[in-house]
Amino acid sequence: MAGAGTEEQLAQRLEELLAVERFAPPESFTEHALIKDRSVHEAAAADPVAWWAEQARTLDWFKEPTVALDDSNPPFYQWFTDGTINASHVCVDRHVAAGNGDRVAFHWYGEEGEQRDITYADLHRDVQRMAGALKARGIGRGDVVGIYLPMIPEVVVAMLACARIGAPHNVVFGGFSAESVRERMEFSDAKALITVDGARRKGKTAPVKVNVDEVMGDLPALETIFVVRHTGVDTPMTDGRDVWVHEAMEAAPAEVPAEELPAEHPLFILYSSGSTAKPKGILHTTGGYLTGVAWTHKYVFDLKPEEDVWFCSADVGWITGHSYIVYGPLANGATSVMYEGAPDYPHKGIWWELCEKSGATIFYTAPTAIRACMKWGVEHVEPHDLSKLRLLGTVGEPINPKAWLWYHEVVGDGRCPIVDTWWQTETGAIMITTLPGAQDAKPGIAGTPLPGIDAAVLDEDGNEVPPNTQGLLSLRRPWPSMLRTLYRDDDRYLSTYWSRLGRETYVVGDAAKMDDEGYVSVIGRIDDVLNVSGHRMSTAEIESAIVSHELVAESAVIGQADEDTGQSVAAFVILQGDLEGTAELEADIREHVAVRIGKLARPKRIIWTDDLPKTRSGKIMRRLLRDIAEGRALGDVTTLRDPGVMEELQQLVASEQSESG
Ligand code: WTA
Repeated sequence: MAGAGTEEQLAQRLEELLAVERFAPPESFTEHALIKDRSVHEAAAADPVAWWAEQARTLDWFKEPTVALDDSNPPFYQWFTDGTINASHVCVDRHVAAGNGDRVAFHWYGEEGEQRDITYADLHRDVQRMAGALKARGIGRGDVVGIYLPMIPEVVVAMLACARIGAPHNVVFGGFSAESVRERMEFSDAKALITVDGARRKGKTAPVKVNVDEVMGDLPALETIFVVRHTGVDTPMTDGRDVWVHEAMEAAPAEVPAEELPAEHPLFILYSSGSTAKPKGILHTTGGYLTGVAWTHKYVFDLKPEEDVWFCSADVGWITGHSYIVYGPLANGATSVMYEGAPDYPHKGIWWELCEKSGATIFYTAPTAIRACMKWGVEHVEPHDLSKLRLLGTVGEPINPKAWLWYHEVVGDGRCPIVDTWWQTETGAIMITTLPGAQDAKPGIAGTPLPGIDAAVLDEDGNEVPPNTQGLLSLRRPWPSMLRTLYRDDDRYLSTYWSRLGRETYVVGDAAKMDDEGYVSVIGRIDDVLNVSGHRMSTAEIESAIVSHELVAESAVIGQADEDTGQSVAAFVILQGDLEGTAELEADIREHVAVRIGKLARPKRIIWTDDLPKTRSGKIMRRLLRDIAEGRALGDVTTLRDPGVMEELQQLVASEQSESG
């Protein structure tokens, strides 16, 4: 079925389904589900620490831990402290040892239609060689290694090679600019960076290594830049510093054993946006993190590694990629799909084409992507046979019921349960969702805390608010995959997460409500963090990028509600002197932000102004700017230093709208 009639019928069906508040798992699903009822939630609630210890045992430890939780110094919690383990051993070696070396770990698909299958035995071979290559350059336990790579199998090899020798990796999303990479390498004192000659995006090639060279020159700690040959673009190499990965791997020994590391050995740092311009280096360690990602990947997605084909559309540069492309699926011995390109290249049905080709059974993506697919239309989905799909998931932002229903009806053909998973870079693994064979899904509402997790919605005094009342989403009990600190910044760790409600309650930074069945709806951030297409960004970081433009005097950035991307970046900009804003200058500022941070941070809208609403202490009142940008009645203006500013701004935005409308 295709054509306008279908879209119309579909729209009507979705409209009708909006009245349905809950979707029970189909019997056909529950029948084969790993978890069919709430008994696991109950078992975990009876003794959460002991329950987590039991889950940890399913990993392959060198020395099994006898201690589960060390909570002697909250909030610096530690897990499984006397155990020893290695993530690359858990993700690769043990599957090969169990006779599963021939199982495909990744069906990789390139942008131009290339296909490569990488088995667990292939990973075993390459990870050892890459680990050897790192060691040959003097990298060892505790040395931070940056990774700036596109979605190619080498990124997984690089991460696991670091894990193998105890070198924490620091992956930077390929969509960030070289300057962002430099900053993250500098903050973490990275000893090496693993990058690529060039990256492909929608048929074009970006010279990544050349861009990196422009900014990376003078970092004293950075001794080696490893370069993966991927596109073959011209790539100057600096003698003594730069190394081709394929040459270094050839020269490395074939056998490089996984090092026996303490459970609390740092596995990685991942920089994420906070409420100041400086990104936070979120630190995860080994044993607890693996326990969290392996459990959630298996049971939230009902994974049967021998039968399922798992497709997570995220980029490895985000936590979703770390936990649900690399560590969770590999710890579970899963077969995954990995796609190099964009969802609309070479055509808008590429994901569904790949689902069909690979026989994908479980698909995990972001609401913003679903909204884009909705806009593109069912004609891009319907030519593809998606009959193998049996479960769908979303992550990254609240999903509006319409998009949920579209996903359910069009992609899932009404037969696949959907899990709406709430979690964060900090939590390491999924915290709130529904177990698909055991719980009803409610469109637009994430679900209940998972077994072993104590999530609550609290008021400013730490008391639970009544059902269906907005409050602070909080986690009241430590969990194994939680962040351990912010890299080299314990003070910021304490003040960001553990100051508002004390050292035993993790304040998430999201506002939420809980219904009388314990289902949590996440409303959005309560701090100055934006969520654009499921990507976390800091208003302060974007402001500081804009202000670094030579013609800009001051700027205030807000997130504006956006139909497609959830939120979009809007910037109020004050220019130097008497300069007038022009279209050229607007384009220039956008490009400037792209260079400083990355394209995804570019303001969608720039509003020129002469002044900004500030409190008497000089703090910009973003709440009022949001009201103005979205054309709402103004909230309380009494704390403003100069309330007159608001009137001028309102007139300005109104005239801008009448011009463009
Ligand atoms: C938001 C991504 C509603 C939330 C894994 C959180 C969500 C932030 C959901 C973390 C969801 C994530 N429903 N909101 N299912 N999942 N969020 O660190 O605001 O990139 O605090 O981790 O995304 O973003 P991060």
